[in-house]
Amino acid sequence: MKFTACIACWLAASSLLPAAPVSIYHGSWIDLNKDGRKEIYEDSTQPLEKRVEDLLKRMTMDEKVGQLWQVVLPKNVDAFASNLVCNGETGSYLGSDITVEGPFVRNELQHIAVEKSRLGIPELFGYDAIHGFRTVFPIPLAQACAWDPELLERTETIAAREAAAAGVDWTFAPMVDLARDPRWGRIAEGFGEDPWLGSLYAKACVQGFQGKNVAAPDRVLACLKHYAGYGAAEGGRDYNTTEISTYTLWNFYLPPFKAGIDAGALTVMSAFNCLSGYPASANPYLLSEILRKRWKFRGFVVSDYNAVAELEAHGVAANDADAARLALTAGVDMEMVSRTYHDTLKQQVERGTIPVQVLDEAVRRVLRLKFEKGLFDRPYTEVSNYAAAFLESDALALSREAAAKSCVLLKNQNQTLPLSPDKDRIALIGPLADMAQEMIGPWHSRAHTNELVSLADAMRSQLGPGMKLPLARGCALVEPGVNKVPRDIVNFLPLDEPPTQPGEIADAVALAQSADVVVLALGEPLDWSGEDASRSDLGLPGRQQELFDAVADTGKPVVVVLFNGRPLGIPDIQKRAAAILEAWFPGTKGADGVADVLFGKAEPSGRLTTTFPLNVGQVPFYYNHFNTGRPGFGQYKGNYADIPTLPLYPFGFGLAYTTLDFGRVQIATNRISFKDTLNVRAEIRNSGTRHGTAVAELYIRDLASTAGPRPVRELKGFQKIPLQPGESWTVNFNLTPNDLGYYDPSGHWLIDPGQYQVWISQDSASGQPAEFELRR
Ligand code: NOJ
Repeated sequence: MKFTACIACWLAASSLLPAAPVSIYHGSWIDLNKDGRKEIYEDSTQPLEKRVEDLLKRMTMDEKVGQLWQVVLPKNVDAFASNLVCNGETGSYLGSDITVEGPFVRNELQHIAVEKSRLGIPELFGYDAIHGFRTVFPIPLAQACAWDPELLERTETIAAREAAAAGVDWTFAPMVDLARDPRWGRIAEGFGEDPWLGSLYAKACVQGFQGKNVAAPDRVLACLKHYAGYGAAEGGRDYNTTEISTYTLWNFYLPPFKAGIDAGALTVMSAFNCLSGYPASANPYLLSEILRKRWKFRGFVVSDYNAVAELEAHGVAANDADAARLALTAGVDMEMVSRTYHDTLKQQVERGTIPVQVLDEAVRRVLRLKFEKGLFDRPYTEVSNYAAAFLESDALALSREAAAKSCVLLKNQNQTLPLSPDKDRIALIGPLADMAQEMIGPWHSRAHTNELVSLADAMRSQLGPGMKLPLARGCALVEPGVNKVPRDIVNFLPLDEPPTQPGEIADAVALAQSADVVVLALGEPLDWSGEDASRSDLGLPGRQQELFDAVADTGKPVVVVLFNGRPLGIPDIQKRAAAILEAWFPGTKGADGVADVLFGKAEPSGRLTTTFPLNVGQVPFYYNHFNTGRPGFGQYKGNYADIPTLPLYPFGFGLAYTTLDFGRVQIATNRISFKDTLNVRAEIRNSGTRHGTAVAELYIRDLASTAGPRPVRELKGFQKIPLQPGESWTVNFNLTPNDLGYYDPSGHWLIDPGQYQVWISQDSASGQPAEFELRR
């Protein structure tokens, strides 16, 4: 059907091209539409599988291989790009920041794919819309601290709506990697250290992105990444090797992936790392045995960027052909960017080193999702008014709401917070006080700097009549030459602020002295977390600690507001600040949400989902660890000689503006059978004078397990309970035997009879347990 156009296009383009990517079809062309009828695969009334098979059988080997290559979307559709598409040499495009500003480049390429390639197979356009698109919401780690999966589903629904309007069919999110090491910059992109909570969030994101009907024009395919074990990078250094026992893999790292797949996630991204002795992107145990056989995953797997070619650097593939064969046969269906599939698969199938069935199956999976996404029936994105989908009022309001809900109040001595916008004479100090551009964190997608709000603007807009907010930077965010990660973000200016000026800290101190209370905005630059942004130190960059010390020396109450992408080790600030509000990177209107919390318009209801260590020497540090044989404190108990063994703040921790008292946990009986459920309850009382929301966290512990030790505590439920001053509420959980289960090292689900402990507590470190027995 598109024979003439295709050859013309190829001829026009080929003279301009490097020779390598061009392939010429030597078989006979099929006249698809000779009597004007639609072929089966083109007919949307036909069953999906029939369409897939009909199309597959018409494809040449080159066209099949083409479906498995994802290429970076070019800035302009030049002859090179149009030729690739016209020849059916690509199946998907990966949007860069410039190219997904609107759907233009996408549509142009799609027109070539649909109208000029031989079979008219549409391309699939992917992009990293991680925590928003044009409207940016708090980073995933922050949103996790809201303990509110429904909130995450709402923010990702809007991310999908905006991204889809710009021509994105597929987002590379959510990142469901468990992270226990705050040196690793990508801790910002995940949900923290708990597999149970991570599983709820995985499901919420999948529902938010894909909705009930992924073919709807405002939905995108989700992609669970990075499969698997990527978050355990040794030394916290990105891309690094991971060593994870199968027992730990099954019980900690895999559950969020399984939850995402059970929720219907249609794609999975294979990880960069070498997992316990073999690279994840060619790992048959992960990709075939677990994903396909055990979990019955029916979508397709895309490699991470260049990860197939990187099998050579890992030292398991001698050349591109090896790399392609290892990845494809293990279960990586589509190769992102590197071209080992493109360059070698055809020959390998022809030579018989790869069975054609393996190739066909990968192609089938890709085609299936293209049909399922509706691309054959609706290949183009509406251009007339695409930008109307951006920054809609509900999106902006949600970015403010989500930011407020993600804040975690870490300290509040003498009820310093909330501040009064009408009475308190506030000095706003700190390098992040007036830096709107840093509010959005890593993976901020298509946010525009001029659409963001700084903390200074947000606080000023809420001040009472006649009130002022004097401002001082105090010091630079980072100092030149201090381990600065270079900023390479399109549209975001390099962080070229001047270094701390002579006398600048002293000026800030003078300003502090003239105020009743100081708000000190400290933290990290937005690109000190995210991909390839690991740190070896968890303190504040540059001279910020010095600034804090100088301001704290004035004796004025100091409210520290932290904007950062990882837990920080800040014990001195914890000791001396009057209040600490962890605001993370809050997003487009995030600073408004933070100001809402500071002034008490919104209450802090977030709880940490990641442990804050005292310093880097304690990491990896996570609440759900196994006991040693010598737990506790004292000689020969495995303590540090120089610092305490406890963290700065434990998992689950966070304060309210009121006092919330948790009563003793009560259980209905101390013995249950495998058919019973156990009612567990506790009374929670708001004994303060303000409204507050309690987060009742349900933890268990299996005291003697058969397949391996169980964590000292495991989260199994939570409830958020809003309480008026003086109000009490009895929170109830029904624990089932299945909640007590876990995986053995080969991934089989077990439930041990025996003794268990159960807590309902405010965080993972407080409360007293009750004990019960599970009997056969
Ligand atoms: C590499 C990152 O690891 C991955 O998370 C991302 O989706 C891809 N690049 C595409 O941008």
